[in-house]
Formats: sequence, C-alpha cells, structure tokens
Amino acid sequence: MPGSRDVIVEVTVNGAPRTAEVPARTLLVHFLRDRLGLTGTHVGCDTSQCGACTVALDGVAVKSCTILAAQASGHEVTTIEGLATAGRLHPVQQAFWTEHGLQCGYCTPGMVLAVRQLLADNPDPTDAEIRVGLAGNICRCTGYQNIVAAARAAAARLREA
Ligand code: FES
Ligand code: FES
Repeated sequence: MPGSRDVIVEVTVNGAPRTAEVPARTLLVHFLRDRLGLTGTHVGCDTSQCGACTVALDGVAVKSCTILAAQASGHEVTTIEGLATAGRLHPVQQAFWTEHGLQCGYCTPGMVLAVRQLLADNPDPTDAEIRVGLAGNICRCTGYQNIVAAARAAAARLREA
C-alpha cells in the first residue's frame, strides 16, 4: 500500500508500460528523469518558461514541469529517447543534425519535441510562424537562426515522407 502522500503512476513511455510509486507532488519531468532514467528531458527553469522539459503527452507537446506525474497516469508519453525508430533519427532530429540546430544541446530535446508539434499543426510554416511556434522554448546559446533552419528543413523532410 502506498503511503497517504504517495501515488502509483502507470504510464506508457515511449511505447513501454512503466509503473512506479512516487510522492503525489512529483512532477512528470522528475518522474521521467529520476525514476525512469530518461534524462534526455531537461530541466531548465522549473517555472514553465524555457521549454527544455517538453515531451509529448498523448501526442501533444507539453512542458513536463507543469504536470504532475499522477496526471499522466493512464496516458502515453513520448520523450526524446522515443523518437528514433529502428536506429534511424526522426526527421526533426535529422534536420537539427544537418542544419547544426544546436550548440550546447541543452534546449535541443525540448526544441525537437516543440518543432514536431509545430509541424503537426502547420506542415509548411513560414520562418515567422516557426519563431512564433517556438516562442515557448528558450535557447540560452541563442542559436535561433539554425533552429529555425532546422525546423524549415524538417518541414520539407516530413512533407516529402
Ligand atoms: Fe519546464 Fe523550463 S523546465 S519550462
Ligand atoms: Fe545551448 Fe540551446 S543549444 S541552450
């Protein structure tokens, strides 16, 4: 029996069922990193501003520092570790690679998940639309020009797929 302040979280992460008992206050980002060892999801601010913690919840990009792990129970989460398939990078990851859309890489997992969502909503965005779409993700290295180029390249790859 869990303690009165603990909850059992049952969530599908990157296609695999995962179950853990955690304090009820546990944020999804800490659940992913500290309980499941999925450290590709980063914590940049803990105040919902930087987007480094972005994951997909039931296919929709969310900032995982804004959600309790308990709220994700019964749902599907996709993290950066779950994007590649059969050893091949996701087209958005591939575009960040080819366009040098990263410097230190700290913001990159969140940026990739955010671009994935942006292109799901708008498959052929203008540069201005890309910048607006990524407004919730901060790159402290200020590599925005190449991030926009990566999003543009990813859009082209996905349209051709
Ligand atoms: Fe979640 Fe910054 S750590 S928005
Ligand atoms: Fe360093 Fe964005 S690449 S924070």
